[in-house]
Amino acid sequence: MPVAGPIIYLDNAATTWPKPEQVYVAMDTAVREHGGNPGRASHRLSVASQKLVEDAREDVCRVFNAPSAERVVFTLNCTDALCLILKGLIKCGDHVITGPFEHNSVARPLHSLRRSGATVMQCQATPGGSVDLDHFRHLSRQGVDYVVMSHVSNVTGCITPVREIAAIARDQGASFILDAAQSAGSVEIDLFSLGVDAVAAPGHKGLCGPMGTGVLVLSEDFPVAPFREGGNGVDSASDEQPRRYPWRLEGGTLNVPGIAGLAAGVRYIESAGIRVVGEREAALARALVEGVSAIDGVRVFGPAAGPETGVVSFRIDGVDVGLTGTILDESYGIAVRTGLHCAPAAHRAIGSFPEGTVRVSLGPFNTEADVAALLSAVREIGARFGTRCARGSNAKGRPPRDRLQPGSAGCAVLNTEGV
Ligand SMILES: Cc1ncc(COP(=O)(O)O)c(C=O)c1O
Repeated sequence: MPVAGPIIYLDNAATTWPKPEQVYVAMDTAVREHGGNPGRASHRLSVASQKLVEDAREDVCRVFNAPSAERVVFTLNCTDALCLILKGLIKCGDHVITGPFEHNSVARPLHSLRRSGATVMQCQATPGGSVDLDHFRHLSRQGVDYVVMSHVSNVTGCITPVREIAAIARDQGASFILDAAQSAGSVEIDLFSLGVDAVAAPGHKGLCGPMGTGVLVLSEDFPVAPFREGGNGVDSASDEQPRRYPWRLEGGTLNVPGIAGLAAGVRYIESAGIRVVGEREAALARALVEGVSAIDGVRVFGPAAGPETGVVSFRIDGVDVGLTGTILDESYGIAVRTGLHCAPAAHRAIGSFPEGTVRVSLGPFNTEADVAALLSAVREIGARFGTRCARGSNAKGRPPRDRLQPGSAGCAVLNTEGV
């Protein structure tokens, strides 16, 4: 059953929605017509399924300019891709540098690797919300084996200077693992020209595929220890997991309908143009920041020069961020995400910890009208509930009053973490 009422979906950093029509069709076709298990049998349904997976590898290889389709490993999501490589590669005694804005999908595996004897150093942020390159250089001179960093912050939308960091890492003999959760599909990623060694990306965000898909793309034959061992139809006589990629890291039956949807999403985003899509999302974000900055009592957390991608974080003075999200959903039909966005380090770096922010993330199907609707809603919520409110003025929304509790400044407070 569809969710009641129209919705303006501004939570594309969590997962993009809606998906391009081609994605729905490809998934439906895969389930109905390519029902065999890929690589397992010689009957036509298995062969068709295998062809679908191989073609999808080619599509992903092309979009990241990987050396070959065999260096594309299908995973469950971006977290899964990150865990596969981090836990399969980093050992006791290794030195790792990570960024100031990392998602828990990087921070948590690194935390457990630190407990197993790896040294993990965190690079500082600049006041402008970027990675401090001088500090990175300083840390890397102390010895570094791996650099693990996000390409785009899922809190501020800032783009990491990957090329510069990769060059410094290379000079020190380190490998660079890029978390492309928020960039794949809206910022061009060319493994060679960026100089990164591995990219972990979700299939379900900017690449427009379904949830439950992700990829690990490798520039070379890394000696990643396989975590998933088991049947995959390759070297079946051996007791050992195949050494060759991608089978080294893929065990068990693949998510073929998901991979079909991911490939359709990749082809969609390629034909729309990654640069075009990304620039359009950033332009909408700039219009949003310009609009909210003009509202009294709204504070934006982002690059001083304005948004670089489609992600914008803000707070309305005196209104709890969780409550802001609830009012936007219940009274205006606008979906955003609130809280810490699984990235506490980023909120510490930008001074929004522990409450977090209201995060708006634009996707390929958002329009100027969506931004205008959000601006009007924020204006009304601020006027009605904010500390700098002109109470009652121009407030047409219908906030869920039974969920509001008056705070000390007479403003709404509701303690929802929303992480
Ligand atoms: C920067 C970053 N890294 C990793 C992830 C994890 O992605 P997934 O949900 O596909 O595991 C996210 C998800 O939002 C993210 O924003």
